[in-house]
Amino acid sequence: MSFDIIVRGGTLPDGSTADIGISGEKIASIGPRIDAEAGKIIDATGNLVSQPFVDPHFHMDATLSYGIPRINASGTLLEGIALWGELKPLLTHEAVRGRALAYCDWAVSMGLLAIRSHVDTCDDRLLAVEALLDVKKRVAPYIDLQLVAFPQDGFYRSPTARENTIRALDMGVDIVGGIPHFERTMADGTRSVTELCEIAEKRGLMVDMHCDETDDPLSRHIEQLAYETQRLGLSGRVAGSHLTSMHSMDNYYVSKLLPLIAEAGVSAIPNPLINIVIQGRHDTYPKRRGMTRVPEMLKAGIRVGFGQDCVLDPWYPLGAVDMLDVAFMGLHVAQMTSPADMAHCFDMVTKVNAEIMGLDHLGLAVGKTASLVVLDAGSRVEALRLRADRLCVIAKGKIVAEREKRATRLSIAGRPATVDRRHHKPAG
Ligand code: FE2
Repeated sequence: MSFDIIVRGGTLPDGSTADIGISGEKIASIGPRIDAEAGKIIDATGNLVSQPFVDPHFHMDATLSYGIPRINASGTLLEGIALWGELKPLLTHEAVRGRALAYCDWAVSMGLLAIRSHVDTCDDRLLAVEALLDVKKRVAPYIDLQLVAFPQDGFYRSPTARENTIRALDMGVDIVGGIPHFERTMADGTRSVTELCEIAEKRGLMVDMHCDETDDPLSRHIEQLAYETQRLGLSGRVAGSHLTSMHSMDNYYVSKLLPLIAEAGVSAIPNPLINIVIQGRHDTYPKRRGMTRVPEMLKAGIRVGFGQDCVLDPWYPLGAVDMLDVAFMGLHVAQMTSPADMAHCFDMVTKVNAEIMGLDHLGLAVGKTASLVVLDAGSRVEALRLRADRLCVIAKGKIVAEREKRATRLSIAGRPATVDRRHHKPAG
């Protein structure tokens, strides 16, 4: 038997060592030792081999636009939305497509091979929708790109958003989005959750709503989202993104809310980099962190992933397209520092995010799509600690990115010539 590629001797996320044989687009064999010919052998000895990184929350129509036409001076969500509103009329199909493709190149180099991007449906031209549908087709050989119809300026608040969101779904956008906390009233927000879930149910689509992205403890649209998910039988197909108001909610109310979210089978997608930088902007001190209650949701049995949300856009002046940065920040803000919790944070940006997006074809198992990443780290926790380099990225059976191992040359008398970033071996 021969394979197209064998990835040899890598450490899998569970700590075991294995060879992985790839034929065509699939993983054909995994075992302690594969004795076979291969078109290409990748030596992964001592390196972590993982299923690829997955980002379940992004805005690809806005990415890489930082500074156009100006920067967000206050750093708030609301100024970001206003600034995006100034940029929208200036967009062209070519500019959106060009930035999105440049972003996808960057993503591939970082082992990020599945992305769920919201796309604004409040521009009557639906230019970004057209551009990202085009990008989705172009990157399909190496990136799974899901698009969410996202009425950024409010499904009801923006006069043509309702009609345009439905048009975007007709054009082939995959998922129904929403922004209930940005509607004119709480009641309109509630109503928008109901109508958007009904649209998804009729069309057999998934739902992913920006939900309660505010510090207002009374913003409770997640309650309605859980209710509609259960009423319409959408369990497992609905995600609430952000849920930052939960950080500030009354503890008694949360003790009632979490079991309802778990029971409905609604997933949660906090976005740690953005939540920590945008929320709490009206606070003096003590200043709220603004990220939702991740450990508590996990304990309640709710599926929680971590999203990236923004890179170099009206809301965020930074971003390195690194899902390890996202998990690293999430781990800190949620204080998830036990060894098991840290390892789980790695799983959240790989395995759990893939589950939230319904990407059953990803995973390190025979018959799954041969998409994986070789990291310059010995374990999941080390990958997080070092935000490890991606030494090799394989997408659908093809090597799409490679990089040399980093080596610093030290010139200090009496000291070694290199620095071993992996020198610390945790006890046990
Ligand atoms: Fe977002």
